[in-house]
Amino acid sequence: MAFVPVARLSEIPIDRGMRVVVDGVGVGLYRIGDEVHAMEDACPHQGFPLHDGHLEGCVIICRVHGWPFDVRTGFDPDNPDGFPIPCFAVEVEADEVRIDVTKQTNDPRANRRRS
Ligand code: FES
Repeated sequence: MAFVPVARLSEIPIDRGMRVVVDGVGVGLYRIGDEVHAMEDACPHQGFPLHDGHLEGCVIICRVHGWPFDVRTGFDPDNPDGFPIPCFAVEVEADEVRIDVTKQTNDPRANRRRS
């Protein structure tokens, strides 16, 4: 699969994520300054969507039990060995945001949540 357009940059809120689905994969888009990050939209704790959590800087806080994840790396910022979430390649051209869910950008130990 290649990069596919998923959103307009102007549609992505700055204080929380925005969910899109590509090839059956739910992905949260996060706008951090001039950059956009894409991270699988499933909390590794109990699978709830992370995109509507509370975004503090680069960290999204799961609204259910408060687990934090850095949207740039997929890791809990205080636990670099635990529960990484897959992050995906992003391209932004003009106002168009594209992602490729076959190109994982973070630690390959990050796996889709298994339930
Ligand atoms: S479901 Fe996210 S912290 Fe529990």
